[in-house]
Amino acid sequence: MAWITPSTQILVIGAGELGTAFLPHLSALPDIHITLGIRTISKYTKLASLNVSLLVLDISGPSDQLAKTFATYDIVISCTGFGQSPETVHKLANEILEAGKLREAEGRPPLWFFPWQWGADYDVIGDGEGLMPLFGAQKEVRDMLREKAANSNVIWTIVSTGIFMSFLFEQFWGVVDREGNNIIVRAFRDWNHQVTVTDVDDIGRILGRIVAGHVDSRNRILYVAGDTVSYSRLADVVERLSGKGVKREQWTIPYLKKEVDNDPDNIIKKYRLVFARDGVFWDKEQTVNYKLNVELVDVETYLKRRPGLI
Ligand SMILES: NC(=O)c1ccc[n+]([C@@H]2O[C@H](COP(=O)([O-])OP(=O)(O)OC[C@H]3O[C@@H](n4cnc5c(N)ncnc54)[C@H](OP(=O)(O)O)[C@@H]3O)[C@@H](O)[C@H]2O)c1
Repeated sequence: MAWITPSTQILVIGAGELGTAFLPHLSALPDIHITLGIRTISKYTKLASLNVSLLVLDISGPSDQLAKTFATYDIVISCTGFGQSPETVHKLANEILEAGKLREAEGRPPLWFFPWQWGADYDVIGDGEGLMPLFGAQKEVRDMLREKAANSNVIWTIVSTGIFMSFLFEQFWGVVDREGNNIIVRAFRDWNHQVTVTDVDDIGRILGRIVAGHVDSRNRILYVAGDTVSYSRLADVVERLSGKGVKREQWTIPYLKKEVDNDPDNIIKKYRLVFARDGVFWDKEQTVNYKLNVELVDVETYLKRRPGLI
């Protein structure tokens, strides 16, 4: 099915790591126009050279205005990052539903919405046994869209990407811990536990294919995976490519739980515990990239392209 038409208007909200990575792939689509919604234009002057329009937009702003604004776009893609509150995640979804209804009143086709759900399987994780209200809100948005989108002239697509590849190697995440010449690789839960990871550029590539209509994506949760890697294989790859000795440490669920109990305001410790549980990986065979036969960057390729990283 052809989704885009010669006058398709796309609004990308947020120009951080993900939003910026999306722009070249969306810009490569024929016949579309991209508007980037950002809070402060002066912070993003480097984007002025791209063929996109800039719009000052704060999704925590007044609802009546936002719904009207959203209604003028055919596709809205949220890339607003982890800095959201559960309230803004709900609010955006509600405004999109209102915008869909406004379009319907004007006889316009449905608004296609990609919520900020570029991560784990929030249907499985829920609110992470109370640890993650933001993830809980993402599950509630899924339920809201399943229940109300069809009657609100809204089509939705959720793209589950796992964690961003860059995130896996962040020092603060604690999985690949580089201290001088020493590397510690830590397994959350156990060495057979897995995590799905995708590079942001690859998420953009697949998003381009979805928007172009190459995938059945209407009112669906799609899965993408650059790699689905066990902690054991990750340690092996890091050891082989770094040429350094790798110390292996296992952070079991009881250990991670104790860490949270002792430091309950530490968000990273909560994330680690959630990522030691289920809903954070899926088989590559069930992914859009597998079905489209698109080769994405796996952990090994990612590291080979960044020789200084480990
Ligand atoms: N699956 C994952 O692993 C995953 C998913 C999401 C995020 N992350 C992690 O989070 C980091 C950031 O990734 P990201 O690109 O998702 O987010 P980001 O780099 O933090 O960018 C968020 C963007 O959204 C904008 N924004 C935030 N609140 C807004 C609001 N109320 N209204 C309008 N715009 C708003 C920000 O604008 P301002 O510049 O004005 O703040 C910024 O442009 C990465 O390092 C990534 O590792 C990971």
